[in-house]
Amino acid sequence: MPATCVIGLQWGDEAKGKIVDLLTERHDIVVRYQGGANAGHTVVTGDQTYKLSLIPSGIFRPRVQCVVAGGVVLNPAGILEEIDALVARGVQVGDNLMLSDRAHVIFPWHFEEDRLIDQQCTSGEAIGTTLRGIGPCYRDKVGRSFAVRLGDMYRYDFHDRIVQIVQAKNHILAGLGSGEDVHLDAVEIFQQYQQYAQRLKPHVADTTAYLLDAVEAGKNVLFEGAQGALLDIDHGTFPFVTSSNSSGVGVSAGSGVPGCYVTKVIGIVKAYTTRVGGGPFPTEQDNDVGQHIRDRGNEYGTVTRRPRRCGWFDAVAARYTARLSGVDVLAVMLLDVPSQLPELKICTAYEVGGRRTTDFPSHVDDLRRVVPVYETMPGWQEEISHVRRIADLPQKARNYLDRISELVGRPVEVVSVGADREQTMFAEPKPS
Ligand code: IMP
Repeated sequence: MPATCVIGLQWGDEAKGKIVDLLTERHDIVVRYQGGANAGHTVVTGDQTYKLSLIPSGIFRPRVQCVVAGGVVLNPAGILEEIDALVARGVQVGDNLMLSDRAHVIFPWHFEEDRLIDQQCTSGEAIGTTLRGIGPCYRDKVGRSFAVRLGDMYRYDFHDRIVQIVQAKNHILAGLGSGEDVHLDAVEIFQQYQQYAQRLKPHVADTTAYLLDAVEAGKNVLFEGAQGALLDIDHGTFPFVTSSNSSGVGVSAGSGVPGCYVTKVIGIVKAYTTRVGGGPFPTEQDNDVGQHIRDRGNEYGTVTRRPRRCGWFDAVAARYTARLSGVDVLAVMLLDVPSQLPELKICTAYEVGGRRTTDFPSHVDDLRRVVPVYETMPGWQEEISHVRRIADLPQKARNYLDRISELVGRPVEVVSVGADREQTMFAEPKPS
């Protein structure tokens, strides 16, 4: 049964890492295929807590091959830091980690551009990037002239490429007119990146060829999406998005594996909605409800520690991203968080100029103008974090799950009520 894919259906931070971790034991290979160190997940194994950004959590299982595929943008210093931190704590990181020679490399100028451009070049609202150089690196990838792939760091002309690019980037950075004197030193950068290249060399490989062989041989592959589908560069809430295809459409482009090998897509949603950074968020609750969710769900960014914006479940958005991503089943995470609210609201439609629609608008200005149409459901007062079977959840919580499933149009297969592995429940198969 070749490939399973895990995709966040909201604006990221849907607790995908937990589901990936659970599924990893049933897979031979785990693949990150888009984004970079803008993602972050916390993995708890035994009494140890690890924070990972780019390395798949499969790294904790020696039998599992971890692959960072070509669609990723990679900061060498960042990934070496992750590797060193794991090794220092006794985790084996060797042949079990492969990095694509096609992955694009993040350089110091990308961090500078991220900082300078998001600060001054957006009209009105900033995107609020994670400042990890992600957008500028993808911009250079698409622009090609200033792009460097991991495999390029081992080629005869690497030094000359760096000198050429640094020359141009110093002009560009000066032209961004921040009033700051940003001057990049080509020699210093070359020497630093040559050291990184040597250390990363044992991991660098043609992962496209490796993955194609693997799926053709019938290996079980797990594709781990980063961010969420509403942040997809093409289909998300542009321009308040990340720079990669974070919905299900990104799997093939980022990994090189044709979509026909993906046999199951699991769409991950929270029982409510959150967003970090700028951009419209129709169901946002900037009030006591939002605060209740933030406090109980510890809704602060893993990478940046920014408080997340919180709001009601938006079924219009989730239905759109589930369809877009080819989702088969849903995993509803953090269902314990809205416990104790007297009532819960689900956005079932948008009102636009007096007209009701369940279509998700393609332009961000139209999304800003929508008025959410809510259905109100009674909340449950009981704590549910100890519940271990979906059938044992309070009836009101089950009704809430059923309504989400109905509105999004996909069955709920997994429900999570806490960070521990045991706090995960699976729908019992329907009798045939
Ligand atoms: P960038 O990916 O750093 O360019 O950030 C672009 C937008 O995506 C910002 O609003 C970020 O807050 C958001 N973003 C990027 N990565 C994540 C993530 O892993 N979780 C949630 N939001 C993210």
